Amino acid sequence: MSHTIAPTGSALGAIITELNLSRPLDDDIAASLRTALLEHVLLVFPGQTLTPKQLAKFCRLFGSITRHILDQFHHPEEPDLSIISNVVESGKGRTTARMAGSYWHSDLSYIAEPVDASMLYAVEVPQTGGDTLFANLYEAFEALPVDTQASLRDLTAVHNLMSGNGTDAKVALTDSQRTRVPDVIHPVVRRHPETGREALFVNPGFTRRIVELDQTKSDALLAELYAHATRECFIYRHKWTAGDLTLFDGRASMHSATGGYPSTARRTLWRAFMGGRYKI
Ligand SMILES: [Fe+2]
Repeated sequence: MSHTIAPTGSALGAIITELNLSRPLDDDIAASLRTALLEHVLLVFPGQTLTPKQLAKFCRLFGSITRHILDQFHHPEEPDLSIISNVVESGKGRTTARMAGSYWHSDLSYIAEPVDASMLYAVEVPQTGGDTLFANLYEAFEALPVDTQASLRDLTAVHNLMSGNGTDAKVALTDSQRTRVPDVIHPVVRRHPETGREALFVNPGFTRRIVELDQTKSDALLAELYAHATRECFIYRHKWTAGDLTLFDGRASMHSATGGYPSTARRTLWRAFMGGRYKI
């Protein structure tokens, strides 16, 4: 039986069922999933049971993998995956004051040649809370007045892993890690190389400032754009069940963890970053 692709009904996302990702996928199915990712920006595959090797192999259908700079969280069996966990005794648990990723961001926007897409796979999740929000940055951009769109196209922004919001949800870098993530500059409006659509490409987690504006004006414009882009109409909220796998296009979306569960509740996800690595 062929897989089904059902839109979530929110601003982004589709649910893919009738597909067992632990088995090799033929080329037609892989192509169909790549097309669906471009169309829906976010894909959710519920009910998957995958080993680290199987998961990494599936991710590579969407491009070569870039390993996360926080190499202390690489998966011991498959370093192309990283572990996000609050389970300290696992040896991979994070001890930040706020949970990892609980600020709006596009993964790795702080590198000079960002990746195309990200994967998150839920290994264990709390009974309640721990949702992830996703925002559609195509729709956010397209909903802006035409003159605002035009003025944004002339702007660029500085990104850095440790700037922006979420300091208390970020793991401190070692000196050697810090030297690998200098400031980078990207356009504020990004044209997606495959769909041709334009999307906002600033995010509260990693964007430091707009290059062409003074700090006060930059702060005001970014705050306005973030308030706009995170309106309910541009958002999908994912409530995790163990075995859920999500894939999302970072060229057209940002996301945020939400917390909201007791510290005693175990939450572990595996993640990977795919494709890209070209100047934008
Ligand atoms: Fe993320």
